[in-house]
Amino acid sequence: MTVQGAGGWLGKVVGTVVHGAGRGRGLGFPTANVAPDPAAPVPPAAIYAGLMARPTHGSLHPVTVSIGTNPTFCDGNEVHIEVYCHDLHDQLYGEHVVVWLVTRIRDTVRFGSVQALVAAAAEDVETTTATLTEEHRARALAELCASPSHGTQQPAP
Ligand SMILES: Cc1cc2nc3c(=O)[nH]c(=O)nc-3n(C[C@H](O)[C@H](O)[C@H](O)COP(=O)(O)O)c2cc1C
Repeated sequence: MTVQGAGGWLGKVVGTVVHGAGRGRGLGFPTANVAPDPAAPVPPAAIYAGLMARPTHGSLHPVTVSIGTNPTFCDGNEVHIEVYCHDLHDQLYGEHVVVWLVTRIRDTVRFGSVQALVAAAAEDVETTTATLTEEHRARALAELCASPSHGTQQPAP
């Protein structure tokens, strides 16, 4: 059984796009590295199919998300939230975004080569495309409309 979180999602990350190691573009998978808002829980390490909203633009995008320590690159113990956006290659640095996790695709793996990682990531992206439905988009848009700022503004004291 899959345990669904609030709103029927597997999980949600709300945070700000920050600079990562800068490897993604060279791999063919440029990712937005999301620093979650303080005190926001970080979903378990895995690869996920999801949707990302840019509340300041009112746009919604299909994404494949890697949450983990990037073991293939021995990046250390820090957990990174890396979001590959299928239909957008803008620089998102400094933007506040909302990422809904729709399904879990697989465990994070320590690959023996960069080529193996890139091949697996390409399959993950195909899985996401096959997974996302109009119903997921409609649900995310409804949530965004109900809470347009989605944490971009602090409540008045
Ligand atoms: C779809 C996808 C799947 C990924 N799967 C793995 C994985 O299984 N193992 C791993 O070490 N890193 C994985 N990563 C993370 C990459 O290692 C990371 O995005 C890349 O090193 C770029 O990091 P940077 O944005 O900090 O430069 C994945 C990334 C994406 C987008």
